[in-house]
Amino acid sequence: MSQSFKVAVLPGDGIGPEVMAEAIKVLEAVQGQFNVSFELTYANVGGIAIDEEGQALPEGTIEACRASDAVLFGSVGGPKWENLPPDEQPERGALLPLRKIFGLFCNLRPAILFPALTGNSSLKEEIVAGGFDLLVVRELTGGIYFAEPKGITGEGAQRTGFDTMKYSDAEIERISHVGFQAAQKRSGKLCSIDKANVLSTSVLWREVVERVAKQYPDVELTHMYVDNAAMQLCRVPKQFDVILCGNMFGDILSDEAAMLTGSLGMLPSASLAEGTFGLYESSGGSAPDIAGQGIANPIAQILSAAMMLRFSFGLTAAAEAIEKAVEKTLNDGFRTGDICQGGSDENKVNTAEMGAAIIARL
Ligand code: IPM
Ligand code: MN
Repeated sequence: MSQSFKVAVLPGDGIGPEVMAEAIKVLEAVQGQFNVSFELTYANVGGIAIDEEGQALPEGTIEACRASDAVLFGSVGGPKWENLPPDEQPERGALLPLRKIFGLFCNLRPAILFPALTGNSSLKEEIVAGGFDLLVVRELTGGIYFAEPKGITGEGAQRTGFDTMKYSDAEIERISHVGFQAAQKRSGKLCSIDKANVLSTSVLWREVVERVAKQYPDVELTHMYVDNAAMQLCRVPKQFDVILCGNMFGDILSDEAAMLTGSLGMLPSASLAEGTFGLYESSGGSAPDIAGQGIANPIAQILSAAMMLRFSFGLTAAAEAIEKAVEKTLNDGFRTGDICQGGSDENKVNTAEMGAAIIARL
């Protein structure tokens, strides 16, 4: 009997629906080849949900996610909703509550520069020759993003905005284990990021990571201040393997790492709860500037689907097959506009052609 998995599909706004369509075609191809089946439930999220249902994260969407084994998320936001109050905007109004409601404490953001694409990196070729492959492990439900109190008090010139940065021992320990275990499966190096020269949260962070490290004698642990890490990432990205961060530092460093690979359109991400539930999305945004033209790069969304197969469904062989097909497609020269270096458009393809090329190599 074939295994069956329930997926909540949330295409969202901008290029979300276009790249999602290709990821779904890939999942359909996987069904045929790997004796599994996916039961898809589509739901609104973000701006389209605001337009059609009055809020960025409607109750029905939450229910669809709850009833599923995993969530495949497109992207949300765009100029149309930019003037709403911050808490109601598509990004904050949908993503942050989804993370909290489903306890998605662990965010995995691989930043891979494929050797075929070193010319696209914002770094000089000599620095990135041969490509690089690093993983940002970001704590996603704590820290300054969620800790209370936060708000704006007072009147006029006395108005004061404040946020609280807080991490408990247990929160740090939980994400540390993910970092160490990821490092064990990779090259055995973990770099923990903090600001322990200034912040108490970071002093505790470092202590707990050190304590957890005793359980992983095979992993080489280093610590780095976040400002230095930002600098080292663009100096010699290859020095890193797994980077372990709290919520805000991980937000910042993962964007930086992503940019070094040349295109946000290449990078998937996974946001995992304890157990097997997870939400999978491309690291790039809704790209309103190119939405509706059918030219967006679907690779990030397709690789996000691959991460879903690996982390939520345990379908390692299928995940690897997708990843290999993507690499082969790039090696064969297929390029969407965002990864066409120097304007050569001999092998330039659109969203659907890129999806088809990848499926043909599955
Ligand atoms: C991200 C985004 C979100 C974050 C925003 C949109 C709330 O930047 O997923 O990195 O800050 O976490
Ligand atoms: Mn971000």
